[in-house]
Amino acid sequence: MASNPNVSRLSLYDIVRTPGVAVDLSHIDRKIKVEGYNGQDNLLKVLDGSDVVIIPAGVPRKPGMTRDDLFNTNAGIAMNLAKACATACPKACILVICNPVNSTVPIFSETFKKMGVLDPRKIMGVTELDTLRARTFLAAELDVDENAYTVPIVGGHAGTTIIPLFSQLPGDLIEQIDVPALTKRVQFGGDEVVVAKAGMGSATLSMAYAGATFANSVLAGLKGEMNIIEQAYFQQDVLGCKFFASQIELGRNGIERALPIPKDITVSEQKAIEKAVPVIQEQIAKGIKYVEQNF
Ligand code: LMR
Repeated sequence: MASNPNVSRLSLYDIVRTPGVAVDLSHIDRKIKVEGYNGQDNLLKVLDGSDVVIIPAGVPRKPGMTRDDLFNTNAGIAMNLAKACATACPKACILVICNPVNSTVPIFSETFKKMGVLDPRKIMGVTELDTLRARTFLAAELDVDENAYTVPIVGGHAGTTIIPLFSQLPGDLIEQIDVPALTKRVQFGGDEVVVAKAGMGSATLSMAYAGATFANSVLAGLKGEMNIIEQAYFQQDVLGCKFFASQIELGRNGIERALPIPKDITVSEQKAIEKAVPVIQEQIAKGIKYVEQNF
């Protein structure tokens, strides 16, 4: 984010060690103000005046855990940050990376709603890494440039709720790839990293890249750039889910519109979406219930 020309102030927050990270970042030859603060007492000061807030908070998975297993620890962290954002920067775009995204985005939205400041166009679950994984793995299989094709992804950001729509590739490309194997790799790409890190966390570097890529697009949209298509998990009514990931168009108000699920998807993509719907609904309900009981 420090290298983005649209950023004029970068304000960092964590429980410990944040001022050091801020000094480190401030040596990058960019004329931006970098601040770093530790601890809850500084939270409102950090957020004050922000246009975009990126939330990579919470504990990561260990091998054998699902993202949902993080709920009990991360739900409280998410709601605490949501309350602070709703107080200090209610009009900011909030980019939620904190897992389980399928539940923490509902926690953010519900908290903002309770505090009377919800604008669903501005609370976005970051699913960019799913897109990057699909693009990377597909390019490797086809032996083409990694930017050659983008695969729309719908559903959520957890295992089989991540549904890449390879049917949307041009021409007969879908016939040249092993769709089940690629789909599985995209769905469980996060687990690949968790296993490889052997207990030392989950994706941080690729997620930082994905988060910054998405945030850069959000900032460009806020500045008035047109036709920015990304993807995110956010509040919208799709197939009975109150939150759903889809391709979106970003603009001055955050999410300007969501692109519908394409009509010409394959039968197996259709079935995968049908199977994901009750799982997503349950994870949404869990987040909303948490706020109802703990706000
Ligand atoms: C990812 O997709 O890599 C992240 O959501 C982290 C995780 O737990 O997999």
